[in-house]
Amino acid sequence: MAAPSPLPALDDLTPEALIAARPFLKRHAQSGLLLEEVPLNAIADALGTPTWVYSAGTMRKRLAELTAALSGLDAHIHFAVKSNDHLAVLRLMAQGGAGADVVSGGELLRARHAGIAASNIVFSGVGKTADEIRLALSEGIYQLNVESAEELEMISAIASNMGKTADIVLRINPDVDAGTHAKITTGLADNKFGIQYQDAAALYAHAASLPGISPQGLALHIGSQILSMAPFRAAYARAAQLIRTLRASGHSVTRMDCGGGLGILYADEAEASPAAFAGVLRQEFGNMGLTLMTEPGRWLVGNAGLLLSSVILTKADGRFTVLDAAMNDLVRPAMYDAFHAIVPVGPGNNGPLHETDIVGPVCETGDTFARHRPMPSLNSADRVAILEAGAYGAVMSSTYNSRPLAAIAMVDGANWATIRARQSVESLWSGELIPEFLG
Ligand SMILES: Cc1ncc(COP(=O)(O)O)c(C=O)c1O
Repeated sequence: MAAPSPLPALDDLTPEALIAARPFLKRHAQSGLLLEEVPLNAIADALGTPTWVYSAGTMRKRLAELTAALSGLDAHIHFAVKSNDHLAVLRLMAQGGAGADVVSGGELLRARHAGIAASNIVFSGVGKTADEIRLALSEGIYQLNVESAEELEMISAIASNMGKTADIVLRINPDVDAGTHAKITTGLADNKFGIQYQDAAALYAHAASLPGISPQGLALHIGSQILSMAPFRAAYARAAQLIRTLRASGHSVTRMDCGGGLGILYADEAEASPAAFAGVLRQEFGNMGLTLMTEPGRWLVGNAGLLLSSVILTKADGRFTVLDAAMNDLVRPAMYDAFHAIVPVGPGNNGPLHETDIVGPVCETGDTFARHRPMPSLNSADRVAILEAGAYGAVMSSTYNSRPLAAIAMVDGANWATIRARQSVESLWSGELIPEFLG
């Protein structure tokens, strides 16, 4: 299992250095921190905190950059809806020409609702239910990414019953270490995902003989936040080898879904480069006459979102800074020991730095966003922005400690809009019933 990557030297991560490394953020002398052209203070004044803020311009730019890198290849981008499933984000992706990679019936319906054509949707996931398979087939999505022999039989039975033929690809498990955090590594033989590499050729042949099934190719996804091209290259080389074997046995293989996983800057990492990624695709699959797919999530939206929060209080002489955002909002630090840059929002927060633990108010020690983080002195009601929260942020929120889901705003140039109102406290129990026998 891969160890978590070591945290960077703290001295390099002063708030001003963190802002300088992010072109979508600027500090304005009077208004404080701006995302694109919008002062974050204006959003916090209007919506309160905690509030997620997404930059439409950044998402658009990232999608255009990846699209340009892939030009010349028959390659299609399917945005991984799990990373950020907001309708406005999905609409923006659709407008930029991306399809969707979904992992549940809910995500499929969201993607459709946001305007993504069924013919642009692929469905991954290790445990699709019969209802979800029926939904996918009745919507007529592009393909189901099959993760087991058992699932293949289920799809065959359901499709035959519906009088349909399911276009499928087999998701192989290439047994390649992505070199990322163990909890987001998905392509090792030990992981639950996909079909063991050595079993895939026989299963492909079996798929071709099943009623209601039309095998189109292969898929793989080895993990997330991958910064080096080496694991991608190793996994794709194994897939290319399998495709050659299948073709030599007379099977038609026309599609290769290359998964997601491109890593982004959180601290001071060099991001995965779309050009380098496209180079690997060209090298491994370029002359094979395949339709290629990618399923990026984090790379498209991770940097484009932040979580705006206010300081409730500082305690123990500033050793702890307690925010109104918590692990129920952004769980990544608690769940993956993830590093998130945190910067003050106010115009005046640029005095001398002191180390502080930045924590939320939830009753868990794990509710800690940062340890020993150099920050200017912060006081009650000062605001901070927790950066790189656009992927696996709001989608993973819970209402733990009866904390309502935070509001979400989207900025675009100098405009901004609320794209989700803050959940009301009453709605937290609106679906709950007290049984009669309790009186
Ligand atoms: C099958 C599949 N595709 C795509 C992704 C998106 O990954 P990322 O956000 O790292 O690009 C995931 C996420 O783990 C996934 O499981």
